[in-house]
Amino acid sequence: MRAVVIDGGASREGSSPRLGEVPDPVPAAGEVLLAVAATALNRADLLQLKGLYPPPPGESEVPGLECSGEVLEVGPGAAPWQVGDRVMALLAGGGHGEKVAVPAGQLMTLPAELSWEEGAALPEAALTAWTNLVVEGGLEAGQTVLITAAASGVGTVAVQIARALGARVLVAGRSLERLEELRPLGAEDCIELGPDLPETVREANGGRGVDLVFDLVGGEGLNRRLECLDRRGRLVLIGLLAGRRAEIDLGLVLRQRLKIVGSVLRSRSRAEKAELVRGFTAFVQPLLADGRLRPVIDRVLPFDEILAAYEQMAAGGLLGKLVLRVG
Ligand SMILES: NC(=O)c1ccc[n+]([C@@H]2O[C@H](COP(=O)([O-])OP(=O)(O)OC[C@H]3O[C@@H](n4cnc5c(N)ncnc54)[C@H](OP(=O)(O)O)[C@@H]3O)[C@@H](O)[C@H]2O)c1
Repeated sequence: MRAVVIDGGASREGSSPRLGEVPDPVPAAGEVLLAVAATALNRADLLQLKGLYPPPPGESEVPGLECSGEVLEVGPGAAPWQVGDRVMALLAGGGHGEKVAVPAGQLMTLPAELSWEEGAALPEAALTAWTNLVVEGGLEAGQTVLITAAASGVGTVAVQIARALGARVLVAGRSLERLEELRPLGAEDCIELGPDLPETVREANGGRGVDLVFDLVGGEGLNRRLECLDRRGRLVLIGLLAGRRAEIDLGLVLRQRLKIVGSVLRSRSRAEKAELVRGFTAFVQPLLADGRLRPVIDRVLPFDEILAAYEQMAAGGLLGKLVLRVG
């Protein structure tokens, strides 16, 4: 099959990707083999291509964290899936190939309302958003959340999930123009990430701080995002787009009784992912059925153009997901 191959290996700096021929994956016990119909890009792929984010041990070296596709083969103990089922899959790797072997617990039925491309754009982005808003962040109806880098793949779906929960949604990012496009999805105020962030957030929220910051950015502006929180607020950090170092005021953390939570999805165990997939599926089904949640897709490219797609993602300026049509 054709797949993205990383010459130099996925764990060596200075590696480079190409589209090449590799052996078909073989489903092990508890796994299902998919013919990939569509797949999507994630920021993590860009790190993996540079040798900076190797897959967890035992997982495919091919990049790609989410896809949609049709079941080709069912390994022993991978019930209830059947050959021909149309599914979406959360992957620890392997999505940027024509076939992928997936643990049965990481599959979800592709809802009739979604195209292959939409199904490919959801699993990693939406599971990340739901896990960190709801499970880690404890977001509830009536609370306010600030989502940073909200024009991203994860951010655009987080806005919709937060609104569906009944929360008030503020979005922050580097481009106000792109943030404005999130209003129809549920964003009530669009705020530039900058030195005035805490004051602007309070102004937008009736003088109060927010209950939750869903932070995709990290880096040296982290303290300003902590200053956006109300007493007993939580900050869930899932990304380091602006860097991995920050100086924070611990007096603020103490005084305001803040919680800071770090969270990653990819390195969690298969059992933990299966449990998240079950909870997410129950939550998301009604939202997909009545249209309250749809992935925001910036563009769809043919699989042949995947190397150009990586470059487009690295260049930035997208709104939502970049999807590849594979099968
Ligand atoms: N922990 C987890 O389990 C998990 C899972 C999935 C994703 N993530 C993280 O979530 C983040 C978003 O991922 P994604 O795949 O949704 O990304 P994406 O679609 O590529 O979007 C990235 C966004 O980040 C913005 N950005 C880039 N550099 C920035 C900076 N220095 N300061 C502020 N904004 C910046 C970009 O804005 P411009 O267009 O202005 O450049 C763009 O809107 C990444 O950090 C990723 O690693 C974490």
